[in-house]
Amino acid sequence: MKNFNYSIPTKIFFGKDQIDVLASQIMQYGSKVLLVYGGGSIKRIGLYDKVVKILQNNGITFWELSDVQPNPRITSVRKGVNICKENQVDLVLAVGGGSSIDCAKVIAAGYYYDGDAWDLVVDPAKIQKVLPIASILTLAATGSEMDFFAVITNTDTNEKLGTGHPDFNPKFSILDPTYSFSVPAIHTAAGTVDIMSHIFEVYFEKTEGAYLQNRMAEALLKTCIKYGKIAIEEPENYEARANLMWASSLAINGLLGYGKKSVWSVHPMEHELSAFYDIIHGVGLAILTPHWMEYVLNDTTVDNFVQYGVNVWGIGDTEDKYQIARQAIQKTKEYFASLGLPATLREVGINEDKLEIMAKQATRNGKVGNFMPLDSEDILNIFNASL
Ligand code: NZQ
Ligand code: ZN
Repeated sequence: MKNFNYSIPTKIFFGKDQIDVLASQIMQYGSKVLLVYGGGSIKRIGLYDKVVKILQNNGITFWELSDVQPNPRITSVRKGVNICKENQVDLVLAVGGGSSIDCAKVIAAGYYYDGDAWDLVVDPAKIQKVLPIASILTLAATGSEMDFFAVITNTDTNEKLGTGHPDFNPKFSILDPTYSFSVPAIHTAAGTVDIMSHIFEVYFEKTEGAYLQNRMAEALLKTCIKYGKIAIEEPENYEARANLMWASSLAINGLLGYGKKSVWSVHPMEHELSAFYDIIHGVGLAILTPHWMEYVLNDTTVDNFVQYGVNVWGIGDTEDKYQIARQAIQKTKEYFASLGLPATLREVGINEDKLEIMAKQATRNGKVGNFMPLDSEDILNIFNASL
């Protein structure tokens, strides 16, 4: 296990009716808030009215940035920055999924930056100071409610880039699983795969002695496999939604990665798919992951797949390492299909046309991943296998 400094500063208020803490938590940072949300789901489930009432009843002034799109755009960020600067907002409150939270994070950084907010996405080192951020989560997926990353898309340049800063960790996040009862099956499935992929990105890694991290990762994977299916079949099953929601946060908040040296593989590839084709992040991950697994399976990685097959999927009927590894990959593929997710790029409207440019863009900063470092040719092979 490698050295690490543990810090996960976000306060989590988990469970039914935890929204009761909203006003008192906000008031620790001030009384002027920018509310950031998406295309209307929070209005349909009555959450918007609830939040507005709490703010009004407690003398908290607020402005709104609505219509944040999935794969949030830099144009939304710019609008939010202007509102914050004009009104000297004290805190940015996202209500929704990862897209609203990510947008809120870069707005919070843009408030203190004189240039164009896109600079802060391209170069996180330019982020000097960040307004306090908070979230009310409605979709278990990205873990943005408890991490310090944000992913923003620039449709002018076909770029979708990740940025980050320690102060992007929300000051507090309210996780009430009942708010996710209304998440449609496709987003429940995509969210489950996103959580699993965040775990895979740190689990498939070769640091010696990170036994504890690997066992925790397996517990989280098993949780996703069990409850992803149940949440789709019974959208209002509280235990399913609760387990997925907490898994979403724990998968990416640092807990699994501390003591390891993980460099992510499948996410940089997927971000190109959603940058060029605006597809759902978790859907892209579901298509690419099994092909990535097949591509990187070799004598140096097979033991990791055996560990995965035995501990997560309970494969125990053979001694042959490659057989276990291949069965585990097959089970992963079958599980994603059982959630109703597409298995090929063509099903989401992606053909050969842009594979090469996407593979090049994915390696703009060099090889991708450290489990098996991939150059643009490797990525092109994985894209082609995924067609
Ligand atoms: O826009 P609204 O109307 O709110 O609808 C959303 C949206 O259409 C809907 N939704 C959310 N909660 C709902 C609901 N519908 C009904 N009931 C609810 N309770 O779901 C759709 C997707 O929402 P979105 O926020 O886009 O999904 P997600 O949370 O998966 O976020 C995806 C974005 O996060 C980035 C992705 O790349 C993508 O841009 N990521 C962010 C990360 C991070 N910050 O650490 C890491 C991830 O790997 C990921 O890259
Ligand atoms: Zn992700």
